[in-house]
Amino acid sequence: MTSQLSSLEEYREAYKRSVQDPEGFWAEQANTFSWIQPWEKVLSWDFKSPDIRWFEGGKLNITVNCLDRHIPEKGDDTAILWEPNDPLGSIKSYTYNELLESVCKVANALKANGIEKGDRVVFYMPMVPELAIGVLACARIGAIHSVVFAGFSAQALADRINDAEAKMVICSDFNNRGAKNIPVKQVVDNALSIGCPSVRTVLMDRNTGDEVVWNSEIDVHWDEQVDHQESYCPPEPMDSEDVLFILYTSGSTGKPKGVVHTCGGYMVYTWYTFLNVFQYKPGDIYWCTADIGWITGHSYIVYGPLLAGATTMMFEGVPTFPDAGRFWQICEKHSVNQFYTAPTAIRALMAQGDEWPDRYDLSNLKVIGSVGEPINEEAWHWYDKHVGRGNVPIVDTWWQTETGGILLTPIPGITDTKPTYCSYPMPGIQPVLVTQEGSIIEENNTEGLLCIRFPWPSIIRTTYGDHERCRQTYFSTFDNMYFTGDGARRDEDGRIRVIGRVDDVINVSGHRMGTAEVENAINEHPAVIESAVVGYPHDIKGQGIYAFVITDGKSSDNVQTEIRNVVTKEIGPIAKPDKIQIVSGLPKTRSGKIMRRILRKIAANDTSDLGDISTLLNPDIVKEILQGAQ
Ligand code: WT7
Repeated sequence: MTSQLSSLEEYREAYKRSVQDPEGFWAEQANTFSWIQPWEKVLSWDFKSPDIRWFEGGKLNITVNCLDRHIPEKGDDTAILWEPNDPLGSIKSYTYNELLESVCKVANALKANGIEKGDRVVFYMPMVPELAIGVLACARIGAIHSVVFAGFSAQALADRINDAEAKMVICSDFNNRGAKNIPVKQVVDNALSIGCPSVRTVLMDRNTGDEVVWNSEIDVHWDEQVDHQESYCPPEPMDSEDVLFILYTSGSTGKPKGVVHTCGGYMVYTWYTFLNVFQYKPGDIYWCTADIGWITGHSYIVYGPLLAGATTMMFEGVPTFPDAGRFWQICEKHSVNQFYTAPTAIRALMAQGDEWPDRYDLSNLKVIGSVGEPINEEAWHWYDKHVGRGNVPIVDTWWQTETGGILLTPIPGITDTKPTYCSYPMPGIQPVLVTQEGSIIEENNTEGLLCIRFPWPSIIRTTYGDHERCRQTYFSTFDNMYFTGDGARRDEDGRIRVIGRVDDVINVSGHRMGTAEVENAINEHPAVIESAVVGYPHDIKGQGIYAFVITDGKSSDNVQTEIRNVVTKEIGPIAKPDKIQIVSGLPKTRSGKIMRRILRKIAANDTSDLGDISTLLNPDIVKEILQGAQ
């Protein structure tokens, strides 16, 4: 059996089989891997609790399948290729042999520092090879990694460290990003000074070598801990359903939640989707521009590609440094074959002019991908024409932190592509559109709420430390279905287009943000009485953040700037509102609920029909807000 689909017929066959005999289908895929002990039961599930188990009874270590398994045939092939921020800096590359050795050494260093199976280790580290190595080192010994995107603030980092009760934080000293040199360790120090009682060790990689404040009670140096370690570390046998990692993501209410993924199913699904969505062939150079701080980086920079024995590239920098041609220059320099990025990057580069991609040789590209938010028609066509040169399939991949891997996507060269459509389900995925009441919409050419009615191997298992929240958020809206939070449209031929969130989650430059989370941050400003945050269409970011804020009137002229600073401190610069309107009240229902529908329309400047406002507690406020709208 070969797992890489190579024709439409094979896709249809695989899809049919995956629905009629999901256990047989996934067992066959899982058999590709090396298991320490075979599973007893392929799948048991109950979406009510939820309680979902794949390959139960099986024992494995994912790093054996990412690394050791490839050594006999590919030991000298490049596993990770790293391109620095500075275009004149030296690239780094690790063969599979070298990567295995590096991972083992770090794994031994973690053990020497008291990290055991099940302990949580937080990473706050930009895109350096040590991040991928460290993550794999955790998996090697069964420690649970939780990577925090290094753009989050000290407060946000502290919240995540504390929720996971992490024993160790791994960071770098500084990192170059574009023209900036970012003091990474200092943010960790600030987080710890807020209070993170579970942390015993901070392991710091000397990256730039710039001076940092050193606390010898808790801080240790990577090289001093790692370099002298044994070059082999035996893999910890893990149960299929043991936790592999936690990754925090925003929801419509409360603080970000820790999405939990487990070892067996996540391994099988990220590998299967990587192989098929990118049609990776031996010798190809694959590049995903995401940050490992997000799920895209976990599944499609680290795990999926390494499980497939691929060469995966990591890029330290940003798309516009030193100029807007950087992505394309890198594609040319490394003869990239598969390129995977976000619509927000495409739109930002599109705005800089066609000459940037047109200047470079992109003829090695075979597949170009998009992920993270809906891609608009204009950006799709630009990507197709100027990057794909009209003959490279675009894979618009829809998925979520919670899904672990890609669920909806065209398969390049096999299924068709249509601008703005992520099209078809991967084998094993059973998407449905439902009405608000939860009845399944059978006909095509309709819109509905996107749900999945059967488990796939990398579906979320729980939210860390709060299983009820997982049930509530994803499994309680509709009986026996996973609810995605997205609205979607299905065309006359059954292709799906994901329109966007139907809950209070917004997507800013592909970064997921809870409006409640931003409001809570704004409300930390002493002059703020109440606030309401909504998303609005933004040319580059996809959605921008619009905040309506009631202040106590005693605020200074600078209150907008101050509010932005508070949000930066509480969450990070990515959550800063684009627009802040000071208002004297917010439209509320008689029961006191903010009517966000109205605010969304005002923010979008779509005010021709605000709907019925007569039932509001304070209908007059709408006029005031309209007049002051930005
Ligand atoms: C939300 C999930 C999974 C990778 C990164 C984002 C939106 C994601 C698409 C797409 C339309 C998309 C959805 C989804 N989204 N990909 N191809 N087309 N929308 O992960 O941060 O968990 O966000 O991103 O709204 O629910 P995430």
